[in-house]
Amino acid sequence: MSKIYTIVKFPEPVLLAPAAEVTVFGTDKLRQLIEDMFATMYAARGVGLAAPQIGIARRITVIDCALDEQPPERLVLINPEIIATEGEQTGEEGCLSVPGFRAEVTRAMRATVRAQDAEGQWFERSGTELLARAFQHEIDHLNGKLFLSHLSALKRDVIKRKIRKLQKDGEW
Ligand code: NI
Repeated sequence: MSKIYTIVKFPEPVLLAPAAEVTVFGTDKLRQLIEDMFATMYAARGVGLAAPQIGIARRITVIDCALDEQPPERLVLINPEIIATEGEQTGEEGCLSVPGFRAEVTRAMRATVRAQDAEGQWFERSGTELLARAFQHEIDHLNGKLFLSHLSALKRDVIKRKIRKLQKDGEW
């Protein structure tokens, strides 16, 4: 059984602070949390989810960029870091913690991450296009950064103002 968590939204403080390293591996608790993160991400129809987005300030993220008609491609990155990037891509990006808002964000076209799995084993993985974007977006989350921080101050303020209005109207 997996649990579907409520996804926390901007500007919850847990989304805006760096998350702590995971130091204990190979436990049922960690495996269950990962299952629950995938279940929560699929339920929200996202391609990536970071633990701070469910209120847990730990450096864990799950990613699955396979499209609906493809078999799932589940990736778990614990304590991940980007060790190489190449090129540039600009495209629309959204975030489950900023629902209803999308904006153009420039990211590296290719990224290589080094991360640990649920057992604590280190591995490296490279991705391009959407997967590279997911690596960068999710690792930003673990550093307390949202895609909003990649926008111009003007665009960011427009979105923040709209969110404040939604909050005031009880719709956020
Ligand atoms: Ni996000």
